[in-house]
Amino acid sequence: MRQSDDNGATEFATLDEIREAALGKLSDAASDYLEGGAGDETTLRRNRRAFERWAFVPRVMSGQPTPATASRFLGVELALPILTAPFGADGLFHPDGHVAVARANAATGTVSIVPEAGSHSLERIAAAAPRAAAFGQVHPLGTDEGFLRIVRRYAEAGYRAICVTCDVPIMGRRERDLRNRYLPDYALFGGNYATIDEAFRQLGQLIERETPVWPWSRLGGLLAQVGLPWMAKGIMTADDARAAVAAGASALVVSNHGGRQLDGQRASLDALPEIRDAVGPAVELALDSGIRNGADVVKAIALGADAVVLGRLAVYGLAAGGEAGLCRVFELLRAEITTILTLLGRGSLTDLTPAALIRAEPD
Ligand SMILES: Cc1cc2nc3c(=O)[nH]c(=O)nc-3n(C[C@H](O)[C@H](O)[C@H](O)COP(=O)(O)O)c2cc1C
Repeated sequence: MRQSDDNGATEFATLDEIREAALGKLSDAASDYLEGGAGDETTLRRNRRAFERWAFVPRVMSGQPTPATASRFLGVELALPILTAPFGADGLFHPDGHVAVARANAATGTVSIVPEAGSHSLERIAAAAPRAAAFGQVHPLGTDEGFLRIVRRYAEAGYRAICVTCDVPIMGRRERDLRNRYLPDYALFGGNYATIDEAFRQLGQLIERETPVWPWSRLGGLLAQVGLPWMAKGIMTADDARAAVAAGASALVVSNHGGRQLDGQRASLDALPEIRDAVGPAVELALDSGIRNGADVVKAIALGADAVVLGRLAVYGLAAGGEAGLCRVFELLRAEITTILTLLGRGSLTDLTPAALIRAEPD
């Protein structure tokens, strides 16, 4: 099915239809920018395969009521255990970009992580969904003053927590983009900056880095001056999880950036159980990289995540139908999650443990 505009998004019957419609609307180079990963895309493929390697263990005749999908993350109530990822250059996929994402989150009881390198200012996005909770994403780079300036802007605009992207000291080498000679225009990354030059001065460091990568102590010290809770995104090992928590992180996003950064590493799902063991039950964990449907959400939660972060899947909804397209993604996810929980014989997400899964061959 092809949709020519945002109307009619409710007619999408499956998540795959939404992806197909999204890719049908984008240029080949924009599709490659969205879909591609770094290097040989080994990690990109592993992210999907990791989900296929777990099979469900159903319990029939369980006597369970209709499953509950409500959840909480960093003090925010969620109707579904879902956050939308910070994705930069969002105007490439839909002119309303994260403004539409924030509205869709507000309408469905989910939460946006708004990117520093987005097409619209963080203040404009906050104003578009004034009663909804959102988190603000930053890159730890540049001067202390520059970093604190944007964190304080998030605090003043009412954002509830900060998400620090720790796995992009420099951009990964994404070969599809290199082959296409493609990088979205700086205007699409620069919504938070007054001029393109300013955006380039700040974000250009992600491409040609000249200063050392920050240590945890510098990050923790600066964020302590602002006082908002923060999460570290891009954690893939138990050691880094412990270091982030020691530096003051209240939550972690277990993530390999959707395979867009260090190629050749593990799937994020495969790192999740040992990270949960390392930090214990008190530290909240979200998982991203490879979530494409409700079964993936259920598996991530069974293996220790409190919530998942949607990257490309959220972009598909946005590109296919703006706010309505993304709302449809959430509706279909809700239907898939409740169907799977019912068939698994679990009454709620909190009933999910690793016992709901068993290792299996991918098909
Ligand atoms: C087009 C695109 C742009 C992204 N831009 C950012 C960004 O600016 N900051 C960031 O922390 N992560 C960024 N990410 C990574 C996502 O936040 C998330 O970690 C990743 O997409 C999860 O993997 P998935 O796409 O397989 O769900 C981007 C991802 C995509 C697809």
